[in-house]
Amino acid sequence: MNVYDSERMADLLKPLGFTITELPEDADMVILNTCHIREKASEKVYSELGRIREYKEAKRLNNQNMVIAVAGCTAQAEGEEILRRAKYVDVIVGPQSYHRLPQILAEIERKTAVEEGPGRGILEIDFPEESKFDFLPETSEPQGISAFLSIQEGCDKFCHFCVVPYTRGAEYSRPVETVYEEACRLVEKGVQEITLLGQNVNAYHGTFSGGEGEVWTLGRLIQYLSKIQALKRIRYVTSHPADVNEEQINAHRDIEKLMPYLHLPIQSGSDRILKLMNRKHTTAYYTEIIEKLRSARPDIAFSSDFIVGYPGETDKDFEDTLELVKKVNFASAFSFKYSPRPGTPASMLDDQVSEEVKTERLARLQSLLFEQQIAFNQSLIGKSISILFEKQGRHPGQLVGRSPYLQSVYAEAATRLIGQCVDVLITHATQNSLTGTVMTQEKITI
Ligand code: 5AD
Ligand code: SF4
Repeated sequence: MNVYDSERMADLLKPLGFTITELPEDADMVILNTCHIREKASEKVYSELGRIREYKEAKRLNNQNMVIAVAGCTAQAEGEEILRRAKYVDVIVGPQSYHRLPQILAEIERKTAVEEGPGRGILEIDFPEESKFDFLPETSEPQGISAFLSIQEGCDKFCHFCVVPYTRGAEYSRPVETVYEEACRLVEKGVQEITLLGQNVNAYHGTFSGGEGEVWTLGRLIQYLSKIQALKRIRYVTSHPADVNEEQINAHRDIEKLMPYLHLPIQSGSDRILKLMNRKHTTAYYTEIIEKLRSARPDIAFSSDFIVGYPGETDKDFEDTLELVKKVNFASAFSFKYSPRPGTPASMLDDQVSEEVKTERLARLQSLLFEQQIAFNQSLIGKSISILFEKQGRHPGQLVGRSPYLQSVYAEAATRLIGQCVDVLITHATQNSLTGTVMTQEKITI
């Protein structure tokens, strides 16, 4: 979602004459778009800012200005502190208020013109009444064959470890028509695959004004978007198990363009820990959903998120997580050590797990998940699968694309196949990618 937001910030600033520069030292403005999900991510902000400050200093010596903005969830959560610790920061904007950047820049310019001096940085972190989506220009130039499209933001679930409900705010769904229009614009500009984004994307409940304020689910929205002819593939991320509904499951059964891959975070395989986490689902409920989805779409592959070392997690709880992983069999997964986040209920608990135990558990979990990932990748050797080629590969004459299961696939193929779905016979598999041979004669065409 930060990638999507960063692109939208660039769109907003384009009418003011800004373009993207590769080198930060050349920039008139640097926006650091930040993540607050774990401590490691937010710690990075200050070291990055230290680096950017040097560019600003160098420009100042040449009588030039560089505006430094901090955006994203760390800005939202720690804006005041950032301004205190890094006095050279000019702007703080939260994830729901970045559409105000043009006015903020005008304000900075005005201040500079009347020589009020830089003064204190501008802090814009309220959750505005208006939706930022209504202010985004339609000038976006997608970067490639596959694009992101935010349809839902925020979270009302309040898992006890998580900052998202505080930084991204309450659940919000964009109306169906605006999503459809944005999808059409992307497709007109050559996009073949769209990934619908939301912190709880399957809690989507956007209004459809054509139906007099009717509310649509994600399944129904996907059905509607699948009618866009030139759109070849649809994906969505991230789903919450408690929000999975029949229309979502049926969408996987009925819609060919919907890829057979679902990221469905479970976080822990222990019901006791899930309860402590305030996850609102059990392991039995989770595995039941997996079964239903497998019946609806037999080749569907699953990925998930796991947290190890949640406060109070015992050896037995952790063993339950390993058991759950063995039972489900994931195609890939993200796993993290629990990271206490300021203001969250879990950070205030006494029975924090030691770093040593977290490290040991993470290593064991990851080795099991990696084993499953390699086994899944290897299970495709000898099969022909449809690959959407996205760009040049590592070697000359080679392209790289994605399988329906989101794996990177390398194959020798003509450049003009970029943007095409091509059948590829898989010949090699590693943990991170597949290699194959194009099944048509296209590969010998120069
Ligand atoms: N510590 C570790 N991992 C976390 N996540 C969210 N909050 C924390 C935290 N405090 C993980 C969850 C979530 C993913 C996006 O990040 O697994 O699904
Ligand atoms: Fe965070 Fe996801 Fe839980 Fe919401 S559902 S609080 S975003 S982990």
